[in-house]
Amino acid sequence: MLFRAAARSLSSPARQFSSSAARQSKVTVLGAGGGIGQPLSLLLKLNPHVTELSLYDIRGAPGVAADVSHVDTNSVPHLTSIKVNGYPADKLDQALEGTDVVVIPAGVPRKPGMTRDDLFNTNASIVRDLAAAVARVSPKAHVLVISNPVNSTVPIVSAVLEKAGVYDPSHVFGVTTLDVVRAQRFLAGIAGADPKDVPVTVVGGHSGATIVPLLSQTPYGKVVTGEVYKKLVHRIQFGGDEVVQAKEGAGSATLSMAYAGARFAGALLRALNGEKGVITPTFVKSPLFADQGIDFFSSNVELGPNGVEKILPIGQLSAEEEELLAACLPDLKKNIEKGKKFVSQS
Ligand code: NAI
Repeated sequence: MLFRAAARSLSSPARQFSSSAARQSKVTVLGAGGGIGQPLSLLLKLNPHVTELSLYDIRGAPGVAADVSHVDTNSVPHLTSIKVNGYPADKLDQALEGTDVVVIPAGVPRKPGMTRDDLFNTNASIVRDLAAAVARVSPKAHVLVISNPVNSTVPIVSAVLEKAGVYDPSHVFGVTTLDVVRAQRFLAGIAGADPKDVPVTVVGGHSGATIVPLLSQTPYGKVVTGEVYKKLVHRIQFGGDEVVQAKEGAGSATLSMAYAGARFAGALLRALNGEKGVITPTFVKSPLFADQGIDFFSSNVELGPNGVEKILPIGQLSAEEEELLAACLPDLKKNIEKGKKFVSQS
């Protein structure tokens, strides 16, 4: 008892918040052995809301779990160590048992010259099969899709869950947070400000022209004009290419993506734990452009104890942003339809 009290007083301020509403949160990472999966698993181990971490991959997950399990962070309110388990290829169902949140970074990344859509043939079936396992084992879990092309993989996961009769649209998210992270970082660089003071909403989808940053809605962003504006938008839309090229064939963004994935998972976990007013852009089933046959869209979403609580409107757009949106919608529609068709023909 004494030891517990002493340990509590030594714990970091971040871990000293009221635990009355805290609940057990088991998080499973599918693709935990990969370039994103490994650092993402580490960052999730640091999240005080995660009480159990389940790491699965067709290669290497038990090793990643053994490694991450030595990190001496705890979750609240439990001062006992958070459980970290690794599961090999044939233990997918065990990895998913009783999980609240599933994060999927499984699949191949881009090489120089590839678009995200070029990954479709390989990643569509990986994501489809993982979603089928989620439907079978943990149908109530919140599913965070990182695997590209997100514009198609989110409709794939949704269609698989729907086919299995367990689809809850408020539980399926495409992780577009890296676009937001890049937008804030790049705009802050131009403005000479701290990125945390430069929030940018990014809507649409997660690839090239479907990425629509709403710079006019921020005080720092609305003063950026002309060539500087054009270059900034292009950099936000194609920032991933900078990383792919710099890695010279060794993959795409992994570390910044792990950070972004952990940030989104953290926001969801805070909302699941009862925090109010958690708002972040994410690619979800959405009514915003459904009348144009586009039923998935990324916009600001208020998260709550049941996932998507409210889909917020995109707000006032500048003339340039109207043009960006007009370019986004047809591409996005094609990407979504491609994902749906893949499942209906599977
Ligand atoms: P990676 O190749 O380093 O890792 C992928 C991992 O998935 C590997 O460990 C592989 O063994 C595993 N895997 C393959 N099939 C699997 C299956 N059926 N079940 C479980 N695991 C399986 O790739 P990286 O760099 O980690 O990227 C992963 C995905 O994330 C790619 O599709 C990439 O395009 C995407 N990505 C998404 C971003 C976003 O903003 N949403 C940003 C960057 C990448």
